[in-house]
Order: sequence, then C-alpha cells, then structure tokens
Amino acid sequence: MKKKLMAMLLSMTLLGSLGGCGVTTTAPGGADDKNSSSATSDSNTSGKTIGILMPTKSSERWIKDGDDMVKGLKDLGYKTDLQYAEDVVETQVSQAENLITKGVSALVIANIDGESLTDVCAKAKAANIPVIAYDRLIKNTADVDYYISFDNKLVGTQIGQYIEKKLDLKNATKSFNIELFAGSPDDNNAHMLYDGAMEVLKPYIDSKKLVVASGQTKFDEVCTLRWDGALAQNRMENILTANYSKGKKVDAVFSSYDGLSRGIVEALRSVGYGSADLPWPVITGQDAETATVKSIVKGEQTQTIFKDTRKLSAQAVKTVDAVLKGQKAEVNDEKTYNNGVKVVPSYLCTPVSVDKDNYKKELIDSGYIKEADLNK
Ligand code: GAL
Repeated sequence: MKKKLMAMLLSMTLLGSLGGCGVTTTAPGGADDKNSSSATSDSNTSGKTIGILMPTKSSERWIKDGDDMVKGLKDLGYKTDLQYAEDVVETQVSQAENLITKGVSALVIANIDGESLTDVCAKAKAANIPVIAYDRLIKNTADVDYYISFDNKLVGTQIGQYIEKKLDLKNATKSFNIELFAGSPDDNNAHMLYDGAMEVLKPYIDSKKLVVASGQTKFDEVCTLRWDGALAQNRMENILTANYSKGKKVDAVFSSYDGLSRGIVEALRSVGYGSADLPWPVITGQDAETATVKSIVKGEQTQTIFKDTRKLSAQAVKTVDAVLKGQKAEVNDEKTYNNGVKVVPSYLCTPVSVDKDNYKKELIDSGYIKEADLNK
C-alpha cells in the first residue's frame, strides 16, 4: 500500500522524466542521502537523488566507477546514494528495492547477475524511475532505458589480436600451447568478449598452430564464476598438474580480466615460471588495474585492456541528466545489445590494448594511474 502510494506520488512528480514531456522541478520525497551535495541552484536537479549500485569493492575499477559517478552527479547538483553488494546477487536486488521504495529519481546499476533484475526493473518502471545499465547489460526486461558500456566484443578482438601478434601466429611455423580463461557466465560481457577473441583465435586452434593442452575450449569449460581470481588460480594449477608435466610449457594464457590473470600468474609462479629456464608466457587481461600494471612493468603479465572508467562514468552521468531533464540521451549503438526482450539503446566507449610499450602514454600521461602508485 505504502509502495503504491509512493509510486503514485512519484509518477505525478516525475511525469515526463523519460518521455520528453517537460521538466519537473519537484523533488521526489523521502530520499535519504548519505552523500548529499551541499548546494545547488539548479531546479532541474535540486533534491533529486540518484541510486548507484555497483557489484563489489573487491575490484579497484568499481570503486573508481562509483566515486567518479558520485562526483560527476554532485557537480550537476544531484544527490547520490552509492552502494556495493560484494558480489551477492540477493544483496544487490534488495538494495535496488530499497532505493525504489525510498524514491530515488534514477537508478544506475552495474549488475552482478544480468538476469536477476527483471522484477526490480518492473518495480522501478511502475514508480517511474529510469534504469540505466552500467557496463553490464541488464537482461530479460523491457524496463531498462539505456546501456552505457565499452564495445565488449572489441575487447575480445583486441586480446585475441594481441596474442596473434605477440606469437606471430600469421607467420609461425611451430605450434604454441595456450590455455583459455573467460569471465563470469552470468555477465553478458564475458560472452561477448569470448566471442570476439575466439573469432581471432579459433582458426589457429583449428589449424593446431594453437594447442589447448587441457582440451578446454567451450565457454562453459573456461568461464570463471563472478570473475573470481582464486577460482582461476585453482583451475590453472589443476591444468598445469594434469597437462604440463614432462617439459611441456605454456606459451600463452588468454585471460579476460586482470583479477583472473593475477591468480594465473601465481599458479604459474608456483611451478617455476618467471625464471631463466621457464619464462613467463604471454598473459593477457582487462581493466588496467594498478596491481596489474605493476605486474606488466615487472614482465609477469604481458598485456591488459584499458577501459577508461572516467569516460564511462561521465557518460552515465550525462545520460542520467538527460533522462531526468526529459531529453533523449546520447547513444551510438542501437542494434547490438538485445537483452532478450528489446534492443537497449547503448553508448559504447572504445577500449585500448596496453602493454609495457604504451602503458606510460595511455595510463600515466592520461592521469588514469599515478606513476607514484606503481612504485608503492
Ligand atoms: C566485467 C567488466 C570487466 C571487468 C569484469 C570484472 O563486466 O566488463 O571490465 O571489470 O566485469 O569486474
């Protein structure tokens, strides 16, 4: 009953927030704000709270994403309520429900399980609260308004092409041993990335220039639930024990995320890789996390994908602002991201492949990582 009342109140005060039907100056009531901005004179934003749900603090990037969005929204005069769910799906669902009950003006969600938010999005829709999927697609709902991400397939293509170039696969006359690590099966990004990488690598696997000694090549065999580095480490240890005794060595590891790569590095280190006799294989990654860039500088991990979260979060902020002002938000892809119910209008940023040769230009010169942090 209380929820129904709130929904009615919200649809009256927020009428037109999505449909371009004029700007409301009335704040939704009841929004309690931990990070409230002190002053704003902008009647469009004044009093409006944006709920931001991030998956976990265990990865550096989501902390940056969350902090940057809070700052960007505050600069525009919004209040924010930022919450993390430590990768527990139920926690994120109840956080979203609470924010809807509190009457936030918009929700920005980087989900933990892309298929877990259908009911939440329906509740948001009923309360006239726009939902923006952040970095990860929200699936199986018509009630998601925009998707802000990177070109996830291109991330995979870039990783695949890096391996192709580094091993000179086009010209190589010998074969190389490779093992494959994909991301979380409940994250649409993991599938798109794997597809992009396999478009490049599969022909070499088929022609046996790349040999997957473990035989594990299907997504279901190589995926890593919740992108968990400990699981990747464990799987790599098992693969090494079962398939790489008797002098056989790993030449490359396709890894989809820095957190996995760090686990893989430890598994390899524990059997002697990183020595004069057993050099590090080519090891890829994604996210350009500080710990990983240190590892790249040391020559352990070879490459990562830099996804500038400053651009992503700034785009999300612009999208929220446009939607709440009744404007059409900027999109650059209206065909790729079919979530099972509709094609979600998307804005995709461009990823950049980074290794020892260009990390300074891409990461340090751009101010994404401070050089001093690499020496800590
Ligand atoms: C994905 C994201 C990656 C990485 C991973 C683990 O959804 O696209 O950049 O952050 O989650 O957090």
